Amino acid sequence: MVANIIDGKAIATSIRQDVKKRVDQLLNKGIQPTLVVIVVGNNPASAIYVRNKIKACHEVGVRSIKVSLSDDTTEQSVLKLIEELNTDTNINGILVQLPLPKHIDEHRILEKISPEKDVDGFHLLNAGRLLSGLSGFRPCTPSGVIRMLELSGLSFEGKHAVVVGRSNIVGKPMALMFLERNCTVSIVHSKTKELASITRQADILVSAVGKPRMISANMVKPGSIVVDVGINRDTDGKLCGDVDFDTVSEVAGWITPVPGGVGPMTIAILLDNTVKSAESTL
Ligand code: GUN
Repeated sequence: MVANIIDGKAIATSIRQDVKKRVDQLLNKGIQPTLVVIVVGNNPASAIYVRNKIKACHEVGVRSIKVSLSDDTTEQSVLKLIEELNTDTNINGILVQLPLPKHIDEHRILEKISPEKDVDGFHLLNAGRLLSGLSGFRPCTPSGVIRMLELSGLSFEGKHAVVVGRSNIVGKPMALMFLERNCTVSIVHSKTKELASITRQADILVSAVGKPRMISANMVKPGSIVVDVGINRDTDGKLCGDVDFDTVSEVAGWITPVPGGVGPMTIAILLDNTVKSAESTL
């Protein structure tokens, strides 16, 4: 079998076109959706992610303000900045790029962001809303995965979704979003025994662990949907996902590539969330 390749880049482009139309409607009403991106320190991966987010904002007419803070910025000063942004009615979204330097408590920072401006969906209130099946901002990467599968015409109900990885940003919310859509859900992780025997049962397999090509063809059910959230460099410095694309695409029914799969979807959802936040002020 040769899998259908899910073109995340093309799907993200169509979402961005829709977002741009909504931005134009807001501009006609005198509102320019605005996202503030806060970066502390100089993590090279963060710099690339943030550059892509800012560029995407520009392309759809969302105003972005990047605040770059030095590595030795105090937690107190980041909290104070967020407090000011929370009360500024011109700001619709606040994103603090992770990871933060070790001396800053990530949880304290994320809890400071107003849940109404939490376009990353990381605030405990938004996490709780997801857990309880209530509406609220949802983390961009798992939302992007769901939207990508929906727009590819794939269904969820009754399927066994297996999520590899249990991070707060991807694995846990991903599992909840599949549950919300009536999947049977398993989360597997580094301490799981017989991991391959579980991944082989997956109708939908999502990998979000950050290990180059760890998902091999013998871990995948024939005809299944395989979603690769990983963005890694292999030992030759080549960009690759968690999934061994060349062999798994011979077994799976559907597969997302890296690059050009989940990555562009994450950014499209961030724009969508920012514009939703601006729309909610009307
Ligand atoms: N670091 C890695 N992924 C993300 C993300 O989606 N949002 C933020 N804020 N930081 C990240």
